[in-house]
Amino acid sequence: MDGNGRWAKARGFHRVEGHRMGINVSEEIITAARDLGIQYLTLYAFSKENWDRPAEEVEVLMQLLKAFLLEKRQKMLDNRIRLNAIGDLSRLPGEVREILFQVMKDTELQTGMTLTLALSYGSRDEILRGIGKILAEASKGGRASFELSEDHFSRYLDTADMPDVDLVIRTSGEHRVSNFLLWQGAYAEYIFEDCFWPDFTRERFVFALEEYQTRERRYGKISEQLT
Ligand code: IPE
Ligand code: MG
Repeated sequence: MDGNGRWAKARGFHRVEGHRMGINVSEEIITAARDLGIQYLTLYAFSKENWDRPAEEVEVLMQLLKAFLLEKRQKMLDNRIRLNAIGDLSRLPGEVREILFQVMKDTELQTGMTLTLALSYGSRDEILRGIGKILAEASKGGRASFELSEDHFSRYLDTADMPDVDLVIRTSGEHRVSNFLLWQGAYAEYIFEDCFWPDFTRERFVFALEEYQTRERRYGKISEQLT
């Protein structure tokens, strides 16, 4: 979800207005994904690197996140959405973390769609934290060596209970991945949208999904091998 600040600047607004508008669009896309039967939707809402923005902007983003969680809790339940979060959540302000965990707990039995918020998220950080967990377990068990496979390692990532990524959509015209789901997106399809996130719409989302459906995912094989 990129381009909130530039969207606002282009209109002579404060960056915060871009974030406010961005949240409305997020809600529209969450609803669309739920309607379309998508099982997992992940929103890159706040990166680990975003902590280095001016303190006032970080503060506003945390307040907006808190308000979103409080205001949308009931809508998530009504639409059978399970809320999930990935990232270094220990860095979130205590108040925000408490509300986040509460809504995650309140929605944990919902099976309509898993909505994951990437918060204080960085893929390299996640991978290192995963390795840390493996090493801690290995030293506790007194094991000198342990099996290391791709499947096994995936279970130590924040996304342990999620499938690999099929499609990543990035708005705002930037053609980069910015530390998002590097491991999980190894075979993802990527779509880059020129519009800023506040201008993204349900229609554009559906177009992106249709474009995704035309892609042939070969996973290194050749076309004739695919059934
Ligand atoms: C994306 O918009 C939202 C967050 C990262 C919170 P930006 O805030 O990155 O907007 P630009 O990229 O500065 O325009
Ligand atoms: Mg940006």
